[in-house]
Amino acid sequence: MTRIKAAITAVHGHLPDYILTNQELEQMVDTTDEWISTRTGIKERRILKGKGLATSDMGAEAVKALLEKRGIGADEVDMLICSTVTPDMKFPATANLISHKVGINNAFSYDMNAACSGFIYALVTASNFVETGKYQKVVVVGADKMSSIVDYSDRQTCVIFGDAAAAVLLEPSDDDTGITDHRFGSDGSGYVHLHMKAGGSLKPPTYDTIDAREHYVYQEGQPVFKFAVTKMAGVSLELMESNNLQADDVAWLVPHQANMRIIEATGRRMGMPSEKVMVNIDKFGNTTNATIPLCLWDYEKKLKKGDNIILTAFGGGFTWGAVWIKWS
Ligand code: UT7
Repeated sequence: MTRIKAAITAVHGHLPDYILTNQELEQMVDTTDEWISTRTGIKERRILKGKGLATSDMGAEAVKALLEKRGIGADEVDMLICSTVTPDMKFPATANLISHKVGINNAFSYDMNAACSGFIYALVTASNFVETGKYQKVVVVGADKMSSIVDYSDRQTCVIFGDAAAAVLLEPSDDDTGITDHRFGSDGSGYVHLHMKAGGSLKPPTYDTIDAREHYVYQEGQPVFKFAVTKMAGVSLELMESNNLQADDVAWLVPHQANMRIIEATGRRMGMPSEKVMVNIDKFGNTTNATIPLCLWDYEKKLKKGDNIILTAFGGGFTWGAVWIKWS
C-alpha cells in the first residue's frame, strides 16, 4: 500500500503590533543593545498588549488568515492542534478556544506541550492523523504569549522572548512531497535547567509563590545553550544520515530561534552554509512554539516544490527533535 503523506499546503503567521526594542529594554533592566545583539542576535521582539488578549487571540488571527489564504472554510477543518506553553487557561485547551474564535465547528482540537519543541511534535502528530486517510484538513498552530510568563526585572530572560503565533495546514499529498521522516527525544532530568516553578500541581499559586516570583520562566542559560547546540545538530545529522541525505541535498535548515549563536553553531556542525539557514530571531526573538512556522512563513516565497527542509528544535523538558519535509 502506498503511504499517504501529509503536505503543508499553507502557512501563515500573526505578529502583535507592539515592538519592544533593545533600546526600550535598556530603560527597564541593566542591559545594553550591544550585549543583547552580540550575545543573542535579537534586535526587537513583538509583545501582545491589550486587556483580555491571550495566546488564542494570536492563534485565531493566524488560523483565519491561513484558511483565507488556502481558500477554504472553517467548517472544512477536521482537526486542530495547538502547541503552546502559555495556554489562555489551564483548561480548556487553547486549541478549542482558537477553533471557537475562528468558527471551526466540525473538528476536534487539543493542545500539546513539549516546550520549544512543541510545534514539531504537534506537526508530526498531526501528519500521522492525515496519513490514516481519515483526515483531510488538519491545522497545527504554534502560539505563545511569552510576555505573560517572563519576568521583566530579570535581564537574563526578558531580553530573549517575544509573542507570536503561526499556523500550517496539512492535507494529503498527491505526490511524494510532504512530511517524510523525523527523530525525537526527551530527557526529563533536564527540567532543572528550564522550567516554571509554581502554578502547577506541584506548587499551586499562593501569596508566597507570587512573592518569590515563581510564576515566571526560570532558566540557567549556559547548560541550555550547550544542550541546544549538541542536540539540534546531533538529531538533525542522525535524521539525515539514516535517509542518506548530505548537507548539499538539503535546501533549508529551519532551526528553533533561541539564540543566534546557537543557530550558527548548529548550522556549522551540520555543514550547512549560512545562506541555507532560516533566521528571523533579530526581528521576533524567541517566540517558543511559533519560531519554526514563523520562519517558514517569512521565507515562503523562496521555497520551491521538492526542496528538502530540515526543521529542528529543542526545549525545556528537555525535548529535542528534527523533521524532514519535502516542500509541497
Ligand atoms: O528556547 C528556550 C531555550 N533557551 C535558550 O535557548 C537559551 C540558551 N541560552 C542562551 O541563549 C544564553 O545562555 C543567554 C542569552 C541566556 C545568556 O548568554 P551567555 O552568553 O550564556 O551569558 P552568561 O549567562 O554566561 O552571562 C555572561 C554575563 C554575566 O555577567 P558576569 O557574571 O560575567 O559579570 C551575566 O550576568 O552576562 C551577564 N548578563 C547580561 N548582561 C547584560 C546576562 N544577561 C545580560 C543582559 N545584559 N541581558
